[in-house]
Amino acid sequence: MTTTINNISPASGGQEIASDAKLWDQSHVMTTYARQPVELVRGEGCWLFDTDGKRYLDFLSGIAVCSVGHAHPYLTKAIADQAATLMHASNLYLTQPQARLARRLIELSDFERVFFCNSGAEANEAAIKLSRKYGRAISERKVRIVTATNSFHGRTLAAVTATGQPKYHDPFAPLPPGFDYVPFNDIEALEAIVTDDTCAVLLEPIQGEGGVIPATQEYLTKARALCDKHKALLIFDEVQTGVGRTGKMWAYQQYGVTPDVMTLAKGLGGGVPIGACLARGAAAETFKPGDHGSTFAGNPLCTAAANAILDILADERLTQNAATVGAYLKERLATLGAPRGMGLMIGLELDKPIAKKVVAEALVLGLIINATGDTTLRIIPPLTLTKELADEGVNLLRQAIEKAAE
Ligand SMILES: Cc1ncc(COP(=O)(O)O)c(C=O)c1O
Repeated sequence: MTTTINNISPASGGQEIASDAKLWDQSHVMTTYARQPVELVRGEGCWLFDTDGKRYLDFLSGIAVCSVGHAHPYLTKAIADQAATLMHASNLYLTQPQARLARRLIELSDFERVFFCNSGAEANEAAIKLSRKYGRAISERKVRIVTATNSFHGRTLAAVTATGQPKYHDPFAPLPPGFDYVPFNDIEALEAIVTDDTCAVLLEPIQGEGGVIPATQEYLTKARALCDKHKALLIFDEVQTGVGRTGKMWAYQQYGVTPDVMTLAKGLGGGVPIGACLARGAAAETFKPGDHGSTFAGNPLCTAAANAILDILADERLTQNAATVGAYLKERLATLGAPRGMGLMIGLELDKPIAKKVVAEALVLGLIINATGDTTLRIIPPLTLTKELADEGVNLLRQAIEKAAE
């Protein structure tokens, strides 16, 4: 029998699953996530809806993923059309959506070639492998990778090793060798660590998980000069900052400092899993056939979605929107704490260690927001946010902070 929409049984995806999701999740999904006590079923624009039909204003966008909001009709049509045409073919063959996305990313940036993958961690994994191969071609000792403390680069073994936070390392030792960590924004520490044995310096232009901490102009300028001096690759992890989030297409444009390699994921697919590692100069020519790859990477479905995201960003001027609404939101947030960040990537520093309580109170009030530490809230809404919705979010947040402080 051919499966049709009408003959799918409840056990394969119907009502039964929705009603038992909490129980089944608790019993059967590995316990890697501390879930919020809400089951989301639907999204529309900047709004999410739970099983009771309660709506939530989304100030998180699936952790900086749903860049064009939820259920954007142009994106959903592009995905549906591509699914009905060709979803997957493997990288043994050429496909139009992947080649087109590569061309558009290159035209929109300062890079020359792209490697596609499926997530931010994989994009950084590609950048790490690429820089090791690049370094070893110069000298067998040129394999060291410098990253910043408090950074976040993902959960695969090399990406988590690059992540400068011991709490993510300790259970998984032994880790791959060859990584050096320096305090973020500390130029002297960077100068002391980068040598001719360094193959790459990997930095987030704005540390995201670390609490929305922007790099200083001086720091990135100096990092570029140090990498040039020692023939090391400068890699920017733009998994969170890329694709319009900060009010420019790429955060490196905020600083006028162009890295050799840039990694992307999150907002690039608007919800479908896609990552990318872009490179220029020698770095762009480092990988040869067989050096790296992935079965799903850059498949027609995900690259068609990313092409649609780029269309929407341009048509609806969402990068500019992130800049203007982000500046407005930051101004409004200054009444609640000390905001920092760029565009629609904002950290709000509270004067009390109540951030987690605020997240819980906000959820009750109908606002989805996230905390990166005891005193820091992270605000990363869809790039489609309007000033009216920014006001609504600030009002809900004010109430949540008041409640949490009681
Ligand atoms: C800057 C940065 N790099 C890498 C990652 C890892 O991305 P993924 O979870 O898609 O592997 C994240 C995720 O939060 C991130 O913020």
